[in-house]
Amino acid sequence: MLRAVFILLALSFVTFASKKVLKVPLYVRQKINGSEQLFAKNSTRGSKPLLVALQTHKNLEYYGNISMGTPRQNFSVIFDTGSSNTWLPSTNCPKSNSACQNHRRYDSSRSSSYIPDGRNFSLHYGSGRVVGYLSKDTLHFAGADLTGLIFGESLYLQHFAFNSVKFDGLVGLGLGVLAWANTKPFLTLLCEKRLVDDCIFSVYLRSHLSKLPGGEIIFGGFDKTKFEGKLHYVPISRSNSWSLEITNTTVESKQIGGKSNAILDTGTSLVLMPQETYYNLLRALSTRLQIGYNVLTCRRESLPNINIVIGGKVFPLTPNDYLRELTVDRKKICLLAIAPIKMPFWVLGDVFLGRYYTVYDATAKKIGLAKSVQGSG
Ligand SMILES: *[C@@H]1O[C@H](CO)[C@@H](O)[C@H](O)[C@H]1NC(C)=O
Ligand SMILES: *[C@@H]1O[C@H](CO)[C@@H](O)[C@H](O)[C@H]1NC(C)=O
Ligand SMILES: *[C@@H]1O[C@H](CO)[C@@H](O)[C@H](O)[C@H]1NC(C)=O
Ligand SMILES: *[C@@H]1O[C@H](CO)[C@@H](O)[C@H](O)[C@H]1NC(C)=O
Ligand SMILES: *[C@@H]1O[C@H](CO)[C@@H](O)[C@H](O)[C@H]1NC(C)=O
Ligand SMILES: *[C@@H]1O[C@H](CO)[C@@H](O)[C@H](O)[C@H]1NC(C)=O
Repeated sequence: MLRAVFILLALSFVTFASKKVLKVPLYVRQKINGSEQLFAKNSTRGSKPLLVALQTHKNLEYYGNISMGTPRQNFSVIFDTGSSNTWLPSTNCPKSNSACQNHRRYDSSRSSSYIPDGRNFSLHYGSGRVVGYLSKDTLHFAGADLTGLIFGESLYLQHFAFNSVKFDGLVGLGLGVLAWANTKPFLTLLCEKRLVDDCIFSVYLRSHLSKLPGGEIIFGGFDKTKFEGKLHYVPISRSNSWSLEITNTTVESKQIGGKSNAILDTGTSLVLMPQETYYNLLRALSTRLQIGYNVLTCRRESLPNINIVIGGKVFPLTPNDYLRELTVDRKKICLLAIAPIKMPFWVLGDVFLGRYYTVYDATAKKIGLAKSVQGSG
């Protein structure tokens, strides 16, 4: 799943308590632009999964800087917990594909560490499609050199999804979900090569309300100063993906959703929920339809929390988390940063990850959550 949020990574190498960790600060650039409408219309058209919210959402993109090859070729990428493959635009993409031409492109002929693979690939994200062939090279990030990574050189990037985004490509941090056959995903390779001691990583995203934009990903550890209290661990609910089980969701003691799987996805901006739950939520929040949107009051203090129960603990989303102000036809309206999907699971994107610090443990196959400390450096 691809978000319209932007990860700008400055890369540094740090050591915590003598353990090897790789720390990647994330810089979020907010590009609030009223004419770019980022929320789902109340439409249930279309048959593809995960299509509603992401297609037009452009106001936030998180990107990070990496480089590929020898000598290094620089790229900005999204670090996506919702997928497992890595790809970059290729210099071999045709002139006719402007989404590719508008980004930095990997040139294998300029890299002495390039190893051909040549198999074709095709990837489908919630917001668009990418097609190309596989290659192998060294990925440099956070001061580390990850040799022998098989990644996609993209020849075709779907215009609508990728033309105007600031990131060039994507690094999949998934546990292997939908990974190409006979390839080792980024995280698997990182851990096998012992570039970190513990096969975990953690994600800290500052929320949209934070003065300081950004956040960071730490590979091999987590940063206790970035969250409050203890991490609440739950097992992953589906093998090969960063997913957990939500047991109940309530708004003011009224249940809006029952037991459901949820994918933690840095690559999705909003929170997505099954349609039935979403319509229960609209009723619980008394939204009304205005110019095609489900609009709610802008008085945050009069709105309730959405209480999501995970592993016996409540993780509330407050109006500050789920409300966004938008100007449409010169009118200020307040919308939910939550959209429905025609799938029986949730996608907990940046709206959730902006409030909760998350730790991804690939060895114990568990996920830790705790309330983020906002505004900390
Ligand atoms: C990432 O790369 C972009 C483009 O090269 C650059 O403008 C930006 O400053 C870099 N960011 C960091 C954090 O290094
Ligand atoms: C807002 O977005 C529109 C459409 O993408 C673009 O034409 C316009 O220049 C943008 N305005 C600003 C201030 O970025
Ligand atoms: C949105 O669409 C659904 C399905 O068509 C409908 O049940 C629901 O009432 C609509 N919501 C609003 C606020 O009109
Ligand atoms: C690539 O990025 C590195 C680190 O940000 C920078 O030092 C270097 O100048 C960049 N190279 C090019 C060709 O932009
Ligand atoms: C791979 O894709 C190219 C077009 O990009 C096509 O010409 C070629 O036949 C494909 N190869 C295979 C084995 O499918
Ligand atoms: C979910 O929460 C509602 C409201 O608090 C409660 O009535 C219901 O029993 C809960 N269901 C489960 C399965 O915990």
